[in-house]
Amino acid sequence: MTDKPSRIVILTGAGISAESGVDTFRDEGGIWAKVDYRDVATPEGFARNPSLVHDFYNQRRQGLKGIQPNAAHIALAKLEREFSGNVLFVTQNIDDLHERAGSQRLVHMHGELARALCVRCGTRHGWREDMDAFSICGACGSTGHLRPDVVWFGEMPYQMERISAAIALCDLFVSIGTSGNVYPAAGFVEEAKFAGAHTVELNLEPSEGRSHFAEAHYGKATEIVPVFVERILGG
Ligand code: OAD
Ligand code: ZN
Repeated sequence: MTDKPSRIVILTGAGISAESGVDTFRDEGGIWAKVDYRDVATPEGFARNPSLVHDFYNQRRQGLKGIQPNAAHIALAKLEREFSGNVLFVTQNIDDLHERAGSQRLVHMHGELARALCVRCGTRHGWREDMDAFSICGACGSTGHLRPDVVWFGEMPYQMERISAAIALCDLFVSIGTSGNVYPAAGFVEEAKFAGAHTVELNLEPSEGRSHFAEAHYGKATEIVPVFVERILGG
């Protein structure tokens, strides 16, 4: 990286939350080694067995109470506070660790554990407790129409237009803690490259998209992200 960037887009995935105690998906012993994504992360799975899906997300939502942002989330929030240009965070994670660390310009492209969506009236609600087939929508008063406000396989991620617009204008694109298996997020690096941005991967190991990145640093997020942030702020 030579010139100082002015517009940064940072994509994060499960790897940034791993050291906070959140399971990743595709690492050994990860979530998709324990449960079939077709059962818990597709609209068809939810239609087949809503209580199985509610239980899966209830457990993960309860898990938020016992975890804290780590040094990587904290360093990124510092970057947003102190950087003279523009930073947008795009996370595939449904935990709330970025916002708890202080990040503000943040898109949860795969939704949020701590929200419920009423499929009857379309209202989204903050939701910290368990959800089931008897949960009541506070907006339309109906029972049995709430689902976790998360994006499942086969559904369109949130705020894609905003994300694409930011990538088209960015001069630095950084991907942190994601294996690069899930589109459209896995394609962002190519969009950024096409826009002329410098592209950086920060991950435990080379991702599926490794060849698209101009620069890469491998190691634990809590170690490599703070170093990278200091370099941007200092340089
Ligand atoms: P993955 O589990 O596919 O990838 C996590 C990545 O983080 C891997 O490349 C790991 O090597 C890396 N990693 C693990 N520990 C790390 C650490 N301490 N520091 C840095 N990197 C570390 O998770 P995602 O790429 O986020 O979607 O998965 C993308 C999407 O697939 C998720 O949002 C989810 C899942 O299916 C839906 O559920 C729709
Ligand atoms: Zn409703």
